[in-house]
Amino acid sequence: MSETPWWKTGVVYQIYPRSFADTNGDGVGDLGGIHAHLDHLVGLGIDAVWLSPIFPSPMADFGYDVADYCDVDPVFGTLDDLDALVGRCHERDIKVLLDWVPNHTSDRHPWFIAARSSRDDPRRDWYWWRDGSPDGGPPNRWKAAFSPGAPAWTWDDATAQWYLHMFLPEQPDVNWANPDVRAAMYDTLRFWLDRGIDGFRIDVVHLLGKNLEIDHAASPDDPEPVHDYAATHEILREVRAVLDEYPERTTVGEVYLLDPARIGAYYGVVDAPELHLSFNFAPMLGRWDAASWRAMIDATHASHDPVGAWPTWVLSNHDKPRHRTRFGGSEARARAAAVLLLTLRGTPFLYAGEELGLEDAVVPAERRVDPGGRDGCRAPVPWTDAPDHGWPAEPWLPFPPDASARNVEVLAADERSILALYRRLLAVRRASPALHVGAFAWLDAPDGVLGWVRTAGADERQVWINFTGEPRSVPAGGTVEVAANGAGEGSTFDGVLGPDAAVVVQP
Ligand code: NOJ
Ligand code: CA
Repeated sequence: MSETPWWKTGVVYQIYPRSFADTNGDGVGDLGGIHAHLDHLVGLGIDAVWLSPIFPSPMADFGYDVADYCDVDPVFGTLDDLDALVGRCHERDIKVLLDWVPNHTSDRHPWFIAARSSRDDPRRDWYWWRDGSPDGGPPNRWKAAFSPGAPAWTWDDATAQWYLHMFLPEQPDVNWANPDVRAAMYDTLRFWLDRGIDGFRIDVVHLLGKNLEIDHAASPDDPEPVHDYAATHEILREVRAVLDEYPERTTVGEVYLLDPARIGAYYGVVDAPELHLSFNFAPMLGRWDAASWRAMIDATHASHDPVGAWPTWVLSNHDKPRHRTRFGGSEARARAAAVLLLTLRGTPFLYAGEELGLEDAVVPAERRVDPGGRDGCRAPVPWTDAPDHGWPAEPWLPFPPDASARNVEVLAADERSILALYRRLLAVRRASPALHVGAFAWLDAPDGVLGWVRTAGADERQVWINFTGEPRSVPAGGTVEVAANGAGEGSTFDGVLGPDAAVVVQP
């Protein structure tokens, strides 16, 4: 077991840096804020952090529009601050993943400024430029994200052609068919790998290979028709080869395809590996319902296991409503969901603030800033119960609900809190090979309940989750190691699960 790599055994914690913690009083979180709160992460027991983009950016999409892949935006700090943070994380056994955004740059990236300057510029072909269709409209019917119905093409008056952008017009798509683009992009990976970064979350990686001849009304939410699968997989093999120049590094690709059956293919095969890990987003959009969870788990195993792909599990991120909100708002469900997330077979990803049971902020119209309507899940993390919640100035977004009770300081002092539950779950997961690498098998369970067993050699854990609002009895024996509501831990399990209850049982 000991040779199992850290990205399979570990737990990754996503930080949206703008919303984590602010140290210089401009209302926007920064690298200093992450540095200042490392004790929270160590106390929680995570293995790695993934930082959403911290590169220089005009912030049209809050950092997912990169103007320089090899530096840090001043709003977050400096390259030295990042080196210092990474050094400190490594001292505390925390790996650091950056968020690489290869599908598009900012329209202010020097590559695009050059490409736009003239049809003859050597960088022109680094982006997708086309003449219009015969009727004078855009070259094909592809749609951009964020503004329903808007074309994925913008007309450039100066050079009289259209350019492609699957997201905002400020995010032109890069032409990955051009070998010079690939070489330049791989150098940006090496820049960070040389500095000791442990790997990358890779933005919308399934979109890289494109076939512009396929003329459907495709958008990034339904990207099937834009694919050139062969090209995408070739790029992923090349990216893997760059990562493999360095020991112990990893990738997790954002493959935004909502059918788990399509995810396994993005890991490649033994002789031609691609991603180390891929996101699998059906569970991030799913309901609190036993049958649908069972189907998603089965579909995930069916797509991953035959190709030796190690699954990932995600309930929330910076793009979608938080799962507590999505599951109806009750803390009991958020607690049971934590047991679910941290005991499945695969690498779990936590989104900062879920360990506090945060819900989405209600953001009034005059404070909305995101073109994609995602402000609610990006609300700042409340650190204290003081009126400023540990933020030296009014943050860029309003706090989530209940911040005076639901903040790190208050919850850390309460051993019955949801934060204490996350800490226990992470500690138990780390100590139990069954939970972090073991095999998975279903147990017979009554309607509305899921039960499974995880096994590694002699180590075994049973997990029971009641998705219903009524008590349920299950045929289990052993000692309650973790209970979502804290009840009965260390005692013999009586087989009764209360409403929305969940337990980890040691036989
Ligand atoms: C996915 C990212 O998670 C999202 O925040 C971003 O807007 C798009 N990719 C475009 O980069
Ligand atoms: Ca700041």
